[in-house]
Amino acid sequence: MGTRVLALLALHAVAGMSSSAQAAPMKAVIPNFPIRTQWEHGHGYCGELSIQQTALTRGVWVGQQQARNIGGGEVLLGRPGSNLNNLQKVLQALGFDFVVWDPDSEAGQGIPTSYMRWMKQQIIAGRAAIFGARLQDGEDDAWYDHIMPAYGIYYDSSTAGQYDARDTLTWTDNYGTVANKTMSDESFYAEQYNCEMPQDTYSGCIPLGADTFATAMGGLLDARKLFLPLRLIITGWSNGAEADSEPRVNANPPASARYRLAFQPGANVRPGNKFAVHRCDRAANGSGGPPANPTDASQLAAAGCRSWDFTMNSSTLPQLSHRALGVLWSNSIVYYVATRQQ
Ligand SMILES: *[C@@H]1O[C@H](CO)[C@@H](O)[C@H](O)[C@H]1NC(C)=O
Ligand SMILES: *[C@@H]1O[C@H](CO)[C@@H](O)[C@H](O)[C@H]1NC(C)=O
Ligand SMILES: *[C@@H]1O[C@H](CO)[C@@H](O)[C@H](O)[C@H]1NC(C)=O
Repeated sequence: MGTRVLALLALHAVAGMSSSAQAAPMKAVIPNFPIRTQWEHGHGYCGELSIQQTALTRGVWVGQQQARNIGGGEVLLGRPGSNLNNLQKVLQALGFDFVVWDPDSEAGQGIPTSYMRWMKQQIIAGRAAIFGARLQDGEDDAWYDHIMPAYGIYYDSSTAGQYDARDTLTWTDNYGTVANKTMSDESFYAEQYNCEMPQDTYSGCIPLGADTFATAMGGLLDARKLFLPLRLIITGWSNGAEADSEPRVNANPPASARYRLAFQPGANVRPGNKFAVHRCDRAANGSGGPPANPTDASQLAAAGCRSWDFTMNSSTLPQLSHRALGVLWSNSIVYYVATRQQ
């Protein structure tokens, strides 16, 4: 646990100083993100965890089994619209914006430069690039063994729209490690059976000599920008499980989370501003999420969401927690969204 906290702190420190400390004008896009740990049973929940971890950056909790249930099986990547790509199906059902990479559009020979450029573009646009990678001693599937979300990119603003071998991608390996590799690093890529990874990590390698797969996950569908950007922070579980790993509970009752909400830096909520927090619980039959692209907060109430009114005092918002906003069960799907009030 201690090392993970240190890694996260280091990343924030780096993000803060990157523009002045680099000789080249490298920009960093490193949003706040949690580092979570996936379940390993059931062939592994890497696709499900990639969704859960990214959803938290948007104020949404998605249990790993709940994601798998929506996908109708293990959550995997594939071509746009293909049956294999049920990660796309899950994001659609959950109401998130997404874009699917088409491996047939790869133009690179050897290093898949079109793919790397696409991931960079998605991250700059504010999405997480959920991608398939080979593992050392993995199953050595012809395509990929592991699915992970990439959140950050260090790049030169003069080549923002292009593949640039100097760019550095930042991702999490779904087992507690933040990985960071420059596109020109040969160890970033591997043919089948040839990936080598730092010890005790699952950071993987970009596949060479095979189709590449990825789906970029954005925020909740909100074309009218009604929602103030929130994130959800899990700080503990009632059964003592580590905050960063979802307790595996098969029997009732499941574990409940200690959690709080925080605004993203771009939310622009100032002391004295009034806002409402809405909580929308999704039922197993799919009913009960927030409506797509709402035009008015009253549509959230009509969809069955509960709301609480607040006035902004400070940026820490200690009261936006489980104490005020109710029990969050591990085996659930719950959306928290905030809207501005006059
Ligand atoms: C990631 O790479 C960038 C660019 O090379 C570097 O500035 C930064 O220190 C690295 N961050 C971490 C957490 O390793
Ligand atoms: C779905 O489940 C919710 C909660 O259990 C229930 O209120 C609702 O009527 C169900 N809807 C359908 C279409 O079955
Ligand atoms: C602001 O402070 C008032 C008075 O202490 C308190 O009742 C309210 O919950 C606080 N609201 C926020 C968002 O901190």
